[in-house]
Amino acid sequence: MLIKTRKDIPSSEITPESVYLNRREFMCAGALATGASLAGPLLPMVAGAAESTSGLHQYTGDVGYTDFSPAWLRDQIAAAIPGSLSADEPVAPFEVVTGYNNFYEFGTDKGDPAENAREFRTAPWQVKVSGAAEVTGTFDFEHLMKGLALEERIYRLRCVEAWSMVVPWIGVPLIKVLEKFRPLSDAKFVRFETLVDPEQMPGQNTRFTAIEYPYVEGLRMDEAMHDLTLLAVGVYGRAMPPQNGAPLRLVVPWKYGFKSIKSIVGIEFTARQPRTTWERTNAREYGFYANVNPEVSHPRWSQASERRLPTSLFSSNKRPTLPFNGYGEDVAHLYAGMDLRKYF
Ligand code: MTE
Repeated sequence: MLIKTRKDIPSSEITPESVYLNRREFMCAGALATGASLAGPLLPMVAGAAESTSGLHQYTGDVGYTDFSPAWLRDQIAAAIPGSLSADEPVAPFEVVTGYNNFYEFGTDKGDPAENAREFRTAPWQVKVSGAAEVTGTFDFEHLMKGLALEERIYRLRCVEAWSMVVPWIGVPLIKVLEKFRPLSDAKFVRFETLVDPEQMPGQNTRFTAIEYPYVEGLRMDEAMHDLTLLAVGVYGRAMPPQNGAPLRLVVPWKYGFKSIKSIVGIEFTARQPRTTWERTNAREYGFYANVNPEVSHPRWSQASERRLPTSLFSSNKRPTLPFNGYGEDVAHLYAGMDLRKYF
């Protein structure tokens, strides 16, 4: 069974895209507060996805962007299996996952990435691997993924802006890729970098950029090697849409969404804690760890609760936020003895 595509959904159930895509919620209000509305987005309250015969969530409707994914990747995705670490919760509709995005390289409104990344060229794609590892160099995306079995992981994604959604990602535990490069004992952290390409990424092509580029994120080595940390290459049974970070991105489900860096071109094994984009932008507001924590509020967003998307005119779908986004049993031990108010 396939999920309902837009054509199948009665129009009464759909909030026009123009309504929800124009709502703004900015992370870095410092640079962009004027005109930013903190009101919640109105998203179509539509039936969730059902499972296909392969057991995966699949979307087969019109996607609205050019899919540059290579044949080898499509084959690998077609062979993906449902993973055992998935959340047992209804997933957000495809239109929400791909229509309500944070990807500043393509603009700061939630609808900008879908609009501006339609023709984002993601093939050929190479990743530079550097630093404290036995194997370093610049590798084709195919080389990174070769021989790896993909799985679907249904994860809660919790943004620091106090909204969340459940997404059926397709990917591989990051550890499987990192192991290929045989990190050395000096490697205490992994630093990731997003593509810089102002010609394709209009958000990088303006004097008034909200953040500095390249977008940089980092994980401690044990976080990077944790089973839950996913290198995602697809969603909804298809290759990663451009607005979600094609062709490869991180998904770290117990941390705020900004740790889940998109369109990765650089991986560096390093002895020093990387300085990340949001720390550089405002270190008082955004920490390196960024573990979801209902007890430590952001200056503009209480983190005690969240709105689960899609919301509707009649329901904000508010629910309490769980420590580590509900993944505490699996990851709390990584932070034993640490003061999580200090290391937020
Ligand atoms: N990666 C890059 N390169 N640029 C970004 O602006 N935004 C982050 C993260 N990764 C961002 C990024 C934020 S704030 C969130 S919440 C998630 O991507 C959103 O992922 P999604 O659009 O797939 O839901």
